[in-house]
Amino acid sequence: MINVAILGYGTVGSGVYEVIKTNNAIINKKAGQEVNIKYVLDLRDFPGDPVEDVLVHDYDTILNDDEVEVIAEVMGGVEPAYTFVKSALMKGKSVCTSNKELVAKHGPELIEIAREHGRNFFFEASCGGGIPIIRPLIECITADDVQEIVGILNGTTNYILTKMSREGLAFDTVLKEAQDLGYAERNPAADIEGFDACRKIAILASVVYGKNVDFEDVYTEGITKITDVDFKYANKIGYSVKLFGKAMKTDGKIYAYVAPVMINQEHPLFAVNDVFNGIMVKGNVLGDVMFYGSGAGKLPTASAVVSDMVDAIKHLNDNVLIDWSSDKLELTDIKNSEKKFFVRMSGDADEQKAAVEKAFGSVEIIRLDDVSGEFAFITDSMTEGKYEEAAKAFENIITRIRIEM
Ligand code: HSE
Repeated sequence: MINVAILGYGTVGSGVYEVIKTNNAIINKKAGQEVNIKYVLDLRDFPGDPVEDVLVHDYDTILNDDEVEVIAEVMGGVEPAYTFVKSALMKGKSVCTSNKELVAKHGPELIEIAREHGRNFFFEASCGGGIPIIRPLIECITADDVQEIVGILNGTTNYILTKMSREGLAFDTVLKEAQDLGYAERNPAADIEGFDACRKIAILASVVYGKNVDFEDVYTEGITKITDVDFKYANKIGYSVKLFGKAMKTDGKIYAYVAPVMINQEHPLFAVNDVFNGIMVKGNVLGDVMFYGSGAGKLPTASAVVSDMVDAIKHLNDNVLIDWSSDKLELTDIKNSEKKFFVRMSGDADEQKAAVEKAFGSVEIIRLDDVSGEFAFITDSMTEGKYEEAAKAFENIITRIRIEM
């Protein structure tokens, strides 16, 4: 038998407890021994809940119990999670976490402490909810020079964008639904301003490229400026609007960004809707490989945490090498990256087309029957820097959305 503890009995923590209880026989078999939840830590009481039998309020009870070998940290936030996780690893316990804020900020240090103690720090659930992506990157895609990793990495915003596109619903209504379903972060800005996806692409890029991508270096734009009119244009031309997190190698340099993009049906991530996440990895010898599944929610996320716990039990005294050093990966400016742009402009298309084409080259004009006083166009492929230079000549640009091919 192996004793484990869960730090936090919120959405994910109660999910971890439920998954271990519900799939007990399968999990024990996969782990090779009986998994016993010895403690659950939370400041709150849960009268009438079976967790009461193992609930503790003092972290030291868990830290100082040498019988606890594996800990699931599912509290979220950097502190006290960082202090708890670091002290657990230093005591020679393995830790599995869903906490992307913790991993993005302290990942390399915690990986190193685990290595020094011959234990493991796993973080599968920090990216892509229930989708296995970290382990495939660490253990499977190891023969490739990865050219690109791109994904829809936030379930809440994908849920919002899908509902806005299909049902024409207002932003706030859909955000409330996502919160009620347990997808959203406590502070909704983390989802809708792109900060959550930014941490996830920083984690993924660090695991892929082996050096630390500081999430604060990642260019980040959220979805709050996307409107129903953008969707009218997108629907008319057969595009969808998605929040992408992307890291890409060009000429030996790596750039990363999070931003809303328009994609058409040819793009492998076009059909990733609702709370689902999709992640595509492009290897120089492998080609494209796709990962798809529930990107948020109690049980899918808990499933990933428990899978990590099973792996930690299987490798109890054997550190699994994670190639993510604390050396900083210097990102190149996204101004050097090349793409097409969808641009909405106020005024009359016929009057402005010549000036637009002088600045942006030949463009494809799009008009909406039920929206007057404006038009849109799609540019040819150009660098972000060139786009910005050309756009300076126009004060009547309403919005621009990047197009990914
Ligand atoms: N708020 C996050 C999301 C939860 O919507 O994707 C999963 O990380």
